[in-house]
Amino acid sequence: MAERIFIGVAWPYANGPLHLGHIAGCYLAADIFARYHRMHGNDVLMVSGSDSHGTPITIRAEQEGITPLQVLEKYHAQFLDTWQKLGISFDLFTTTHTENHQRVVHDVFSALKERGYIYPGMMLLAYCPGCQRFLPDRYVEGACPHCGYQRARGDQCDACGRTLDPKDLVSPRCILSGGTPEFRESEHFFLKLSAFQEPLLQWTNQQNHWRANVRNFTRRYLEDGLKDRAITRDLSWGVPVPLEGYDDKRIYVWFEAVIGYLSAAIEWAQRQGQDNRWQDFWKDPNTRSYYFIGKDNIPFHTIIWPAMILGYGGLNLPYDVPANEFLSLEGRKFSTSQNWAVWVPDYLERFDPDPLRYVMSINMPESGDTDFSWGEFVRRNNEELVATYGNLVNRVLSFTYRNFDGAVPTPGPLSPADQAMLQSARGALAAIDQHIYQCRFKAGITQVFTLARETNQYLDSRAPWRAIRANKADAATSLWVAIAVINCLKVALAPYLPFTSQRLHEFLGLDGKVESEQWDFDSLVAAAAPGRKLRQPLPLFTKLEPSVAEEEAQRLGVKAG
Ligand code: MF3
Ligand code: ZN
Repeated sequence: MAERIFIGVAWPYANGPLHLGHIAGCYLAADIFARYHRMHGNDVLMVSGSDSHGTPITIRAEQEGITPLQVLEKYHAQFLDTWQKLGISFDLFTTTHTENHQRVVHDVFSALKERGYIYPGMMLLAYCPGCQRFLPDRYVEGACPHCGYQRARGDQCDACGRTLDPKDLVSPRCILSGGTPEFRESEHFFLKLSAFQEPLLQWTNQQNHWRANVRNFTRRYLEDGLKDRAITRDLSWGVPVPLEGYDDKRIYVWFEAVIGYLSAAIEWAQRQGQDNRWQDFWKDPNTRSYYFIGKDNIPFHTIIWPAMILGYGGLNLPYDVPANEFLSLEGRKFSTSQNWAVWVPDYLERFDPDPLRYVMSINMPESGDTDFSWGEFVRRNNEELVATYGNLVNRVLSFTYRNFDGAVPTPGPLSPADQAMLQSARGALAAIDQHIYQCRFKAGITQVFTLARETNQYLDSRAPWRAIRANKADAATSLWVAIAVINCLKVALAPYLPFTSQRLHEFLGLDGKVESEQWDFDSLVAAAAPGRKLRQPLPLFTKLEPSVAEEEAQRLGVKAG
């Protein structure tokens, strides 16, 4: 029976280009998962959008001397271009700056307020006497009250991941002037998180399928005790408060951004011309909702958003939040200010998308932090994509094309070695299927490459290039087996390397989209039908010179212009 899968992916701040850390953090995993489920004929909705409000956007606008709206428009357009070129297949990638989003946020805000989960109160706000202004959360730094990290921000501690209020910081300072802020009272709205302590504890205790890091983090967070949090700010850029007398306040960016998952589904349904379709993904209890995010976003998706959903009522809670850990670059943390990053638009100007998707998948920071280096990128491209997989496909298809009239050969009786090869492919396909289903993307692609290596060994021992002289029927058999296995590899890799699998699909003489292929061993073998015309094969991947790694490493940390 078809399953229904909602996929929410973290909303990137539209304040700068994406770097590889973002891709490894959530976008690639979400896309693999969405493609996989679509291939299984499941009903998938994958949404996200530009996180358009908050200080990340206004800081950038000040720096560039343009308006926040211009910043949003510039980077939103760039994100859309990146998704298209990298093959991240959102059903909708919108922004939090739409009328629809504002309407949905107002609805959630009003419903929670009506139920007593949002209430007005006094908030202590950081005011810098030196700068003579109220300071946004991110403009205040100090020591974390939980772990002691010295450079915690007013909104969150990067060391222990806990969410903070500026007034929680020990020895706070203004990042603009370095001065010590005073705390002044201002009226704001609070979200009554404390009311959800028990229900959330019970709920999280049932989520045994969550990754250990996500479960442990969430438990620890709940054990600290949930405190009510202010969800409005003294700002002019953002979603207005739906009440009179609050013209100079806006809804806090985190509170409204998570509502984007719901508003994006509603916008998607409207664009489909099926206004109620979003309800399938939000109200049908059989739908499973997955949230792909980086680990710094865990509390917002396992605590705050679920609390809001519980308070609102009638909507599905997350089923899983498979948060990834961090990717570092050449052993160092990504840093935008030091330009220590590989920017995705730059990468895509120089290289193909699939080698990056491969390296990010096989080295995904799923259960611990991992590192990206250009040396490893070039090595994996050359040794694994070109030599293992590309060469397997190329030698089988080219040889067959030349010697069997450009068509799939007709096999003779299968030897035990031939049968063992096919059985191995059958088993691998089922195992890869399970890995992806359970969000073990790295294990999935590792197993695909194990199968590719095994197929190379099989061919080396069956050696159709030698057999063809003495016994053409024997060569036909082993080539047919190899083509059947290659057809399986193509499907297992389609979620990971969609562009390459599509090309291979065409070389194999098949038409249409590789995504419409079924993940089913018997039909994949049947599709390798003897006599089927192949198309002239070309290499799937390009070898990179070692100098590429040196050039790219040199580019790092060098500021443009
Ligand atoms: N913009 C946030 C970040 O980059 C992520 C927001 S995810 C959302 O960390 F769910 F809140 F939208
Ligand atoms: Zn901390």
